[in-house]
Amino acid sequence: MIKAIKGVKDILPDDALVWQKIESVARDVFYRYGYQEIRIPIFEQTELFARSIGADTDIVGKEMYTFPDRDGTSLTLRPEGTASVVRAYIEHSLHQHARMWKLFYFGPMFRHERPQAGRLRQFHQAGVEVFGYSEPHVDVEVIALLHRYFTQLGVPTFRTNVNSLGDEACRPSYLKELKKFLEKIANLLCENCARRAQTNPLRVLDCKVEKCKAVLTDAPIMLDHLCEHCLFHFDAVKAGLEQLEIPYSLNSRLVRGLDYYNRTAFEVVSTNLGAQDAVAAGGRYDGLVKALGGPMIPGIGFAIGLERLALLVRETVNHTSKVDIFIVALGENAIKEMLPVLDWLRTQGVATDMDYAGGSLKSQMKQADRAGARLTVIVGDDELKKRSVVVRDMQTKEQQDLGLLDLAATLIKRCAEFR
Ligand code: HAM
Repeated sequence: MIKAIKGVKDILPDDALVWQKIESVARDVFYRYGYQEIRIPIFEQTELFARSIGADTDIVGKEMYTFPDRDGTSLTLRPEGTASVVRAYIEHSLHQHARMWKLFYFGPMFRHERPQAGRLRQFHQAGVEVFGYSEPHVDVEVIALLHRYFTQLGVPTFRTNVNSLGDEACRPSYLKELKKFLEKIANLLCENCARRAQTNPLRVLDCKVEKCKAVLTDAPIMLDHLCEHCLFHFDAVKAGLEQLEIPYSLNSRLVRGLDYYNRTAFEVVSTNLGAQDAVAAGGRYDGLVKALGGPMIPGIGFAIGLERLALLVRETVNHTSKVDIFIVALGENAIKEMLPVLDWLRTQGVATDMDYAGGSLKSQMKQADRAGARLTVIVGDDELKKRSVVVRDMQTKEQQDLGLLDLAATLIKRCAEFR
Protein backbone atom coordinates (compact mmCIF):
# COMPACT_ATOMS: atom_id res chain seq x y z
CA MET A 1 0.00 0.00 0.00
CA ILE A 2 1.26 3.46 -0.86
CA LYS A 3 1.17 5.73 2.18
CA ALA A 4 1.51 9.49 2.58
CA ILE A 5 5.04 10.84 2.97
CA LYS A 6 6.39 11.15 6.52
CA GLY A 7 5.58 14.52 8.08
CA VAL A 8 2.66 15.21 5.75
CA LYS A 9 -0.96 15.06 6.88
CA ASP A 10 -4.32 14.51 5.21
CA ILE A 11 -7.07 16.81 6.41
CA LEU A 12 -10.15 14.57 6.54
CA PRO A 13 -13.70 16.01 6.23
CA ASP A 14 -14.30 16.43 9.97
CA ASP A 15 -11.05 18.36 10.34
CA ALA A 16 -11.72 20.31 7.14
CA LEU A 17 -14.65 21.92 8.96
CA VAL A 18 -12.21 23.25 11.54
CA TRP A 19 -9.93 24.56 8.77
CA GLN A 20 -12.85 26.22 7.00
CA LYS A 21 -13.76 28.08 10.15
CA ILE A 22 -10.13 29.13 10.71
CA GLU A 23 -9.90 30.43 7.15
CA SER A 24 -13.26 32.16 6.99
CA VAL A 25 -12.80 33.99 10.29
CA ALA A 26 -9.27 34.96 9.19
CA ARG A 27 -10.50 36.43 5.89
CA ASP A 28 -13.22 38.26 7.74
CA VAL A 29 -10.80 39.81 10.25
CA PHE A 30 -8.05 40.54 7.69
CA TYR A 31 -10.48 42.42 5.42
CA ARG A 32 -11.82 44.36 8.39
CA TYR A 33 -8.27 45.62 9.03
CA GLY A 34 -7.81 46.64 5.39
CA TYR A 35 -5.69 43.70 4.16
CA GLN A 36 -5.95 42.24 0.65
CA GLU A 37 -5.21 38.71 -0.49
CA ILE A 38 -2.12 37.79 -2.48
CA ARG A 39 -1.48 34.32 -3.93
CA ILE A 40 2.12 33.35 -4.37
CA PRO A 41 3.77 30.34 -6.04
CA ILE A 42 4.71 27.22 -4.13
CA PHE A 43 8.22 27.09 -5.57
CA GLU A 44 10.81 29.75 -6.25
CA GLN A 45 14.46 30.03 -7.20
CA THR A 46 16.51 28.74 -4.29
CA GLU A 47 18.52 31.95 -4.12
CA LEU A 48 15.44 33.90 -2.99
CA PHE A 49 15.26 31.97 0.28
CA ALA A 50 19.00 31.77 0.80
CA ARG A 51 19.29 35.56 0.49
CA SER A 52 16.27 36.47 2.63
CA ILE A 53 16.03 33.86 5.39
CA GLY A 54 19.82 33.71 5.77
CA ALA A 55 22.46 31.17 4.76
CA ASP A 56 23.34 30.34 8.38
CA THR A 57 19.80 29.52 9.49
CA ASP A 58 18.56 25.96 10.07
CA ILE A 59 15.87 26.48 7.42
CA VAL A 60 18.32 27.27 4.62
CA GLY A 61 21.15 25.11 5.96
CA LYS A 62 19.29 21.84 6.33
CA GLU A 63 15.52 22.05 5.95
CA MET A 64 14.78 23.14 2.39
CA TYR A 65 13.32 20.90 -0.30
CA THR A 66 15.66 21.90 -3.11
CA PHE A 67 15.93 20.28 -6.53
CA PRO A 68 17.32 21.13 -9.98
CA ASP A 69 14.86 22.10 -12.71
CA ARG A 70 15.32 20.45 -16.12
CA ASP A 71 17.58 23.31 -17.22
CA GLY A 72 19.67 23.02 -14.04
CA THR A 73 18.17 26.05 -12.20
CA SER A 74 17.99 25.33 -8.49
CA LEU A 75 14.40 25.47 -7.26
CA THR A 76 13.00 25.21 -3.72
CA LEU A 77 9.56 24.45 -2.30
CA ARG A 78 8.82 27.53 -0.23
CA PRO A 79 9.66 27.07 3.47
CA GLU A 80 7.72 30.26 4.34
CA GLY A 81 5.75 33.02 2.62
CA THR A 82 7.49 36.30 3.41
CA ALA A 83 10.31 35.94 0.88
CA SER A 84 7.86 35.23 -1.95
CA VAL A 85 5.58 38.12 -1.02
CA VAL A 86 8.56 40.48 -0.97
CA ARG A 87 9.72 39.10 -4.33
CA ALA A 88 6.26 39.69 -5.82
CA TYR A 89 6.10 43.17 -4.26
CA ILE A 90 9.37 44.12 -5.94
CA GLU A 91 8.74 42.30 -9.23
CA HIS A 92 5.38 44.04 -9.77
CA SER A 93 6.65 47.43 -8.46
CA LEU A 94 3.74 47.57 -6.05
CA HIS A 95 5.36 50.49 -4.24
CA GLN A 96 4.76 52.61 -7.36
CA HIS A 97 1.01 51.97 -7.23
CA ALA A 98 0.44 52.78 -3.57
CA ARG A 99 2.60 53.96 -0.68
CA MET A 100 1.31 51.27 1.71
CA TRP A 101 0.37 47.68 1.08
CA LYS A 102 -1.32 45.36 3.54
CA LEU A 103 -1.43 41.79 2.23
CA PHE A 104 -2.46 38.36 3.47
CA TYR A 105 -1.99 34.80 2.20
CA PHE A 106 -2.76 31.19 3.01
CA GLY A 107 -0.97 28.09 1.87
CA PRO A 108 1.29 25.12 2.39
CA MET A 109 4.97 25.52 3.36
CA PHE A 110 7.69 22.85 3.27
CA ARG A 111 10.53 22.22 5.71
CA HIS A 112 12.51 19.00 6.08
CA GLU A 113 12.28 18.88 9.88
CA ARG A 114 12.17 15.87 12.19
CA PRO A 115 8.42 15.17 12.31
CA GLN A 116 6.85 15.17 15.77
CA ALA A 117 3.62 16.41 17.38
CA GLY A 118 3.01 19.88 15.95
CA ARG A 119 5.98 19.73 13.58
CA LEU A 120 5.42 18.68 9.99
CA ARG A 121 7.27 18.68 6.70
CA GLN A 122 4.30 20.08 4.82
CA PHE A 123 2.41 22.48 7.04
CA HIS A 124 0.15 25.45 6.39
CA GLN A 125 0.37 29.10 7.28
CA ALA A 126 -1.89 32.12 7.20
CA GLY A 127 0.28 35.20 7.03
CA VAL A 128 0.14 38.96 6.68
CA GLU A 129 2.78 41.34 5.35
CA VAL A 130 2.67 45.14 5.52
CA PHE A 131 4.90 47.38 3.41
CA GLY A 132 5.60 51.08 3.64
CA TYR A 133 5.15 51.90 7.33
CA SER A 134 8.06 52.50 9.67
CA GLU A 135 5.70 53.86 12.36
CA PRO A 136 5.34 51.77 15.53
CA HIS A 137 1.55 52.04 15.15
CA VAL A 138 1.67 49.36 12.49
CA ASP A 139 3.63 47.02 14.79
CA VAL A 140 0.78 47.53 17.24
CA GLU A 141 -1.79 46.91 14.49
CA VAL A 142 -0.38 43.54 13.41
CA ILE A 143 0.02 42.29 16.99
CA ALA A 144 -3.51 43.51 17.82
CA LEU A 145 -4.88 41.92 14.64
CA LEU A 146 -3.42 38.56 15.66
CA HIS A 147 -4.81 38.89 19.18
CA ARG A 148 -8.30 39.89 17.99
CA TYR A 149 -8.35 37.09 15.44
CA PHE A 150 -7.45 34.45 18.03
CA THR A 151 -10.04 35.87 20.41
CA GLN A 152 -12.81 35.87 17.78
CA LEU A 153 -11.90 32.32 16.83
CA GLY A 154 -12.18 31.22 20.47
CA VAL A 155 -8.55 30.10 21.02
CA PRO A 156 -8.75 29.09 24.69
CA THR A 157 -5.37 30.08 26.12
CA PHE A 158 -2.56 31.96 24.44
CA ARG A 159 0.12 34.48 25.28
CA THR A 160 1.84 37.07 23.11
CA ASN A 161 5.58 37.54 23.75
CA VAL A 162 7.37 40.57 22.36
CA ASN A 163 10.99 41.66 22.11
CA SER A 164 13.14 44.07 20.16
CA LEU A 165 16.04 42.75 18.10
CA GLY A 166 17.56 46.20 17.48
CA ASP A 167 18.76 47.34 14.08
CA GLU A 168 21.94 47.70 12.06
CA ALA A 169 23.01 50.60 14.30
CA CYS A 170 22.90 48.77 17.63
CA ARG A 171 22.85 45.03 16.90
CA PRO A 172 26.47 44.58 15.67
CA SER A 173 27.99 45.86 18.92
CA TYR A 174 25.53 43.77 20.94
CA LEU A 175 26.42 40.66 18.91
CA LYS A 176 30.10 41.29 19.61
CA GLU A 177 29.40 41.36 23.32
CA LEU A 178 27.19 38.25 23.09
CA LYS A 179 29.88 36.38 21.17
CA LYS A 180 32.47 37.32 23.80
CA PHE A 181 30.17 35.96 26.50
CA LEU A 182 29.51 32.75 24.54
CA GLU A 183 33.24 32.17 24.02
CA LYS A 184 33.72 32.25 27.78
CA ILE A 185 31.11 29.52 28.34
CA ALA A 186 31.73 27.62 25.08
CA ASN A 187 32.63 24.31 26.76
CA LEU A 188 29.37 24.35 28.76
CA LEU A 189 27.09 24.64 25.74
CA CYS A 190 25.38 21.82 23.86
CA GLU A 191 26.92 20.79 20.54
CA ASN A 192 24.32 22.69 18.52
CA CYS A 193 24.87 25.91 20.47
CA ALA A 194 28.65 25.61 20.32
CA ARG A 195 28.29 25.72 16.52
CA ARG A 196 25.66 28.44 16.55
CA ALA A 197 27.80 30.61 18.84
CA GLN A 198 30.00 31.10 15.77
CA THR A 199 27.45 31.18 12.95
CA ASN A 200 24.22 32.60 14.44
CA PRO A 201 24.85 33.60 18.08
CA LEU A 202 21.35 35.04 18.65
CA ARG A 203 19.78 31.61 18.20
CA VAL A 204 21.76 30.32 21.20
CA LEU A 205 19.49 32.43 23.41
CA ASP A 206 16.39 30.34 22.72
CA CYS A 207 18.02 26.93 23.13
CA LYS A 208 15.66 24.57 24.97
CA VAL A 209 18.44 22.34 26.41
CA GLU A 210 18.48 22.68 30.22
CA LYS A 211 22.28 22.94 30.60
CA CYS A 212 22.35 25.77 28.05
CA LYS A 213 19.44 27.57 29.67
CA ALA A 214 21.27 27.45 33.01
CA VAL A 215 24.52 29.00 31.74
CA LEU A 216 22.71 31.59 29.62
CA THR A 217 20.90 33.30 32.47
CA ASP A 218 23.66 35.92 32.67
CA ALA A 219 23.97 36.42 28.91
CA PRO A 220 23.78 40.05 27.76
CA ILE A 221 20.38 40.91 26.24
CA MET A 222 19.53 43.08 23.25
CA LEU A 223 17.07 45.21 25.21
CA ASP A 224 19.95 46.62 27.29
CA HIS A 225 21.80 47.61 24.12
CA LEU A 226 19.10 49.27 21.99
CA CYS A 227 20.09 52.53 20.31
CA GLU A 228 17.98 55.62 20.87
CA HIS A 229 15.78 55.04 17.79
CA CYS A 230 15.10 51.40 18.56
CA LEU A 231 14.35 52.21 22.19
CA PHE A 232 11.90 54.94 21.16
CA HIS A 233 10.24 52.58 18.68
CA PHE A 234 9.94 49.74 21.17
CA ASP A 235 8.55 52.01 23.90
CA ALA A 236 5.92 53.26 21.45
CA VAL A 237 4.95 49.68 20.51
CA LYS A 238 4.52 48.73 24.16
CA ALA A 239 2.53 51.92 24.91
CA GLY A 240 0.31 51.26 21.87
CA LEU A 241 -0.45 47.70 22.98
CA GLU A 242 -1.33 48.98 26.43
CA GLN A 243 -3.59 51.66 24.97
CA LEU A 244 -5.54 48.99 23.05
CA GLU A 245 -5.44 46.68 26.06
CA ILE A 246 -3.68 43.91 24.17
CA PRO A 247 -2.02 41.73 26.82
CA TYR A 248 1.64 40.87 26.15
CA SER A 249 4.74 39.65 27.94
CA LEU A 250 8.18 41.05 27.45
CA ASN A 251 10.56 38.23 26.56
CA SER A 252 14.16 39.38 26.18
CA ARG A 253 15.19 35.86 25.02
CA LEU A 254 12.80 35.82 22.07
CA VAL A 255 14.86 35.48 18.89
CA ARG A 256 13.71 34.17 15.55
CA GLY A 257 14.87 31.42 13.22
CA LEU A 258 14.99 33.75 10.22
CA ASP A 259 17.67 36.40 9.75
CA TYR A 260 15.63 39.18 8.17
CA TYR A 261 14.12 40.59 11.36
CA ASN A 262 14.97 43.87 13.04
CA ARG A 263 13.34 45.78 15.91
CA THR A 264 9.97 44.31 16.95
CA ALA A 265 9.77 40.50 17.07
CA PHE A 266 6.86 38.61 18.57
CA GLU A 267 5.31 35.20 18.92
CA VAL A 268 2.09 33.74 20.24
CA VAL A 269 2.47 30.63 22.38
CA SER A 270 -0.03 28.27 23.97
CA THR A 271 0.42 25.90 26.89
CA ASN A 272 -1.98 23.45 25.16
CA LEU A 273 0.53 22.61 22.42
CA GLY A 274 3.35 20.73 24.16
CA ALA A 275 6.96 21.29 23.10
CA GLN A 276 6.13 23.04 19.79
CA ASP A 277 4.25 25.79 21.57
CA ALA A 278 4.50 28.67 19.04
CA VAL A 279 1.25 29.01 17.11
CA ALA A 280 2.25 32.24 15.34
CA ALA A 281 5.33 34.40 14.98
CA GLY A 282 6.51 37.47 13.17
CA GLY A 283 8.26 40.77 13.28
CA ARG A 284 9.63 43.75 11.43
CA TYR A 285 11.99 43.37 8.46
CA ASP A 286 12.91 46.88 7.38
CA GLY A 287 15.94 45.89 5.27
CA LEU A 288 14.49 42.91 3.39
CA VAL A 289 12.92 44.67 0.39
CA LYS A 290 16.21 46.43 -0.28
CA ALA A 291 18.28 43.28 0.30
CA LEU A 292 16.25 41.54 -2.41
CA GLY A 293 16.85 44.32 -4.93
CA GLY A 294 13.95 46.69 -4.21
CA PRO A 295 13.87 50.21 -2.74
CA MET A 296 14.41 50.93 0.96
CA ILE A 297 10.87 50.17 2.14
CA PRO A 298 10.10 48.85 5.61
CA GLY A 299 8.02 45.75 6.22
CA ILE A 300 6.42 43.82 9.03
CA GLY A 301 4.26 40.69 9.25
CA PHE A 302 3.52 37.39 10.91
CA ALA A 303 2.54 33.84 10.04
CA ILE A 304 0.26 31.49 11.92
CA GLY A 305 0.88 27.72 11.94
CA LEU A 306 -2.56 26.43 10.94
CA GLU A 307 -2.09 22.80 12.09
CA ARG A 308 -1.26 24.10 15.57
CA LEU A 309 -4.17 26.55 15.49
CA ALA A 310 -6.52 23.74 14.37
CA LEU A 311 -5.48 21.70 17.43
CA LEU A 312 -6.36 24.63 19.68
CA VAL A 313 -9.81 25.36 18.25
CA ARG A 314 -10.97 21.83 17.34
CA GLU A 315 -13.37 21.64 20.25
CA THR A 316 -15.06 24.93 19.39
CA VAL A 317 -16.29 23.74 15.99
CA ASN A 318 -19.69 22.19 15.47
CA HIS A 319 -19.05 18.92 13.66
CA THR A 320 -22.65 18.11 12.79
CA SER A 321 -25.16 20.18 10.84
CA LYS A 322 -24.04 19.21 7.37
CA VAL A 323 -27.39 18.91 5.58
CA ASP A 324 -30.80 20.38 6.33
CA ILE A 325 -32.82 17.54 4.84
CA PHE A 326 -32.15 13.87 4.22
CA ILE A 327 -34.54 12.07 1.88
CA VAL A 328 -35.10 8.45 2.90
CA ALA A 329 -36.42 6.83 -0.28
CA LEU A 330 -37.31 3.15 0.09
CA GLY A 331 -37.12 1.30 -3.21
CA GLU A 332 -36.34 2.23 -6.79
CA ASN A 333 -39.71 3.87 -7.52
CA ALA A 334 -39.45 6.14 -4.51
CA ILE A 335 -35.88 7.07 -5.43
CA LYS A 336 -36.93 8.02 -8.97
CA GLU A 337 -39.89 10.04 -7.69
CA MET A 338 -37.72 11.97 -5.26
CA LEU A 339 -34.88 12.87 -7.66
CA PRO A 340 -36.57 16.08 -8.93
CA VAL A 341 -37.48 17.04 -5.33
CA LEU A 342 -33.85 16.57 -4.28
CA ASP A 343 -32.66 18.66 -7.22
CA TRP A 344 -35.24 21.39 -6.65
CA LEU A 345 -34.46 21.74 -2.94
CA ARG A 346 -30.78 22.09 -3.75
CA THR A 347 -31.44 24.83 -6.31
CA GLN A 348 -33.46 26.65 -3.61
CA GLY A 349 -30.43 26.73 -1.30
CA VAL A 350 -31.51 23.89 1.00
CA ALA A 351 -28.65 21.44 1.71
CA THR A 352 -30.25 18.10 0.91
CA ASP A 353 -28.95 14.58 0.44
CA MET A 354 -30.23 11.11 -0.33
CA ASP A 355 -28.80 7.58 -0.57
CA TYR A 356 -29.17 6.45 -4.22
CA ALA A 357 -28.54 2.85 -3.23
CA GLY A 358 -31.67 2.77 -1.07
CA GLY A 359 -31.17 0.43 1.89
CA SER A 360 -33.41 -0.29 4.87
CA LEU A 361 -35.32 2.38 6.75
CA LYS A 362 -33.10 1.81 9.79
CA SER A 363 -29.81 2.21 7.93
CA GLN A 364 -31.00 5.30 6.08
CA MET A 365 -32.25 6.91 9.28
CA LYS A 366 -28.79 6.31 10.75
CA GLN A 367 -27.25 8.00 7.73
CA ALA A 368 -29.61 10.96 8.17
CA ASP A 369 -28.50 11.24 11.79
CA ARG A 370 -24.83 11.14 10.83
CA ALA A 371 -25.42 13.80 8.19
CA GLY A 372 -26.88 16.06 10.88
CA ALA A 373 -30.23 16.43 9.07
CA ARG A 374 -32.89 18.52 10.79
CA LEU A 375 -35.68 16.90 8.76
CA THR A 376 -36.04 13.57 7.02
CA VAL A 377 -38.50 12.96 4.23
CA ILE A 378 -39.52 9.30 4.28
CA VAL A 379 -41.13 7.78 1.24
CA GLY A 380 -41.85 4.15 0.28
CA ASP A 381 -44.33 2.29 -1.92
CA ASP A 382 -47.28 2.90 0.46
CA GLU A 383 -46.66 6.63 0.48
CA LEU A 384 -46.25 6.69 -3.29
CA LYS A 385 -49.66 5.10 -3.70
CA LYS A 386 -51.18 7.84 -1.54
CA ARG A 387 -49.07 10.50 -3.32
CA SER A 388 -47.75 11.58 0.08
CA VAL A 389 -44.59 11.43 2.24
CA VAL A 390 -43.75 11.43 5.95
CA VAL A 391 -41.71 14.38 7.21
CA ARG A 392 -39.91 13.71 10.48
CA ASP A 393 -38.35 16.40 12.70
CA MET A 394 -35.13 14.77 13.88
CA GLN A 395 -35.02 16.78 17.09
CA THR A 396 -38.60 16.71 18.33
CA LYS A 397 -39.27 13.33 16.62
CA GLU A 398 -42.64 14.70 15.45
CA GLN A 399 -43.95 13.25 12.17
CA GLN A 400 -46.29 14.80 9.66
CA ASP A 401 -47.94 13.38 6.52
CA LEU A 402 -47.64 15.69 3.55
CA GLY A 403 -49.02 15.51 0.05
CA LEU A 404 -46.32 15.36 -2.64
CA LEU A 405 -47.67 18.56 -4.18
CA ASP A 406 -47.24 20.59 -0.98
CA LEU A 407 -43.90 19.02 -0.12
CA ALA A 408 -41.43 21.45 -1.64
CA ALA A 409 -43.07 24.63 -0.36
CA THR A 410 -43.53 23.21 3.15
CA LEU A 411 -39.93 22.01 3.37
CA ILE A 412 -38.53 25.36 2.31
CA LYS A 413 -40.70 27.07 4.93
CA ARG A 414 -39.64 24.63 7.68
CA CYS A 415 -35.95 25.05 6.82
CA ALA A 416 -36.23 28.83 6.94
CA GLU A 417 -37.57 28.47 10.51
CA PHE A 418 -34.39 26.60 11.57
CA ARG A 419 -32.05 29.31 10.33
P1 HAM B 1 8.15 30.97 11.47
O1 HAM B 1 8.35 31.30 12.92
O2 HAM B 1 9.23 30.19 10.83
O3 HAM B 1 7.94 32.35 10.73
O4 HAM B 1 6.79 30.20 11.28
C1 HAM B 1 5.57 30.74 11.75
C2 HAM B 1 4.72 29.65 12.37
O5 HAM B 1 4.56 28.56 11.46
C3 HAM B 1 5.32 29.00 13.61
O6 HAM B 1 5.06 29.77 14.77
C4 HAM B 1 4.57 27.68 13.66
O7 HAM B 1 3.29 27.85 14.24
C5 HAM B 1 4.40 27.36 12.19
N1 HAM B 1 5.43 26.37 11.77
C6 HAM B 1 6.71 26.61 11.42
N2 HAM B 1 7.34 25.46 11.10
C7 HAM B 1 6.43 24.46 11.26
C8 HAM B 1 6.45 23.04 11.07
N3 HAM B 1 7.55 22.40 10.63
N4 HAM B 1 5.32 22.34 11.31
C9 HAM B 1 4.18 22.96 11.73
N5 HAM B 1 4.11 24.30 11.92
C10 HAM B 1 5.21 25.04 11.68
C11 HAM B 1 7.77 32.50 9.40
O8 HAM B 1 7.52 31.59 8.64
C12 HAM B 1 7.76 33.94 8.94
N6 HAM B 1 7.59 33.97 7.48
C13 HAM B 1 6.68 34.73 9.64
C14 HAM B 1 6.63 36.16 9.21
C15 HAM B 1 5.79 36.71 8.31
N7 HAM B 1 7.45 37.10 9.61
C16 HAM B 1 7.13 38.23 9.00
N8 HAM B 1 6.16 38.01 8.21
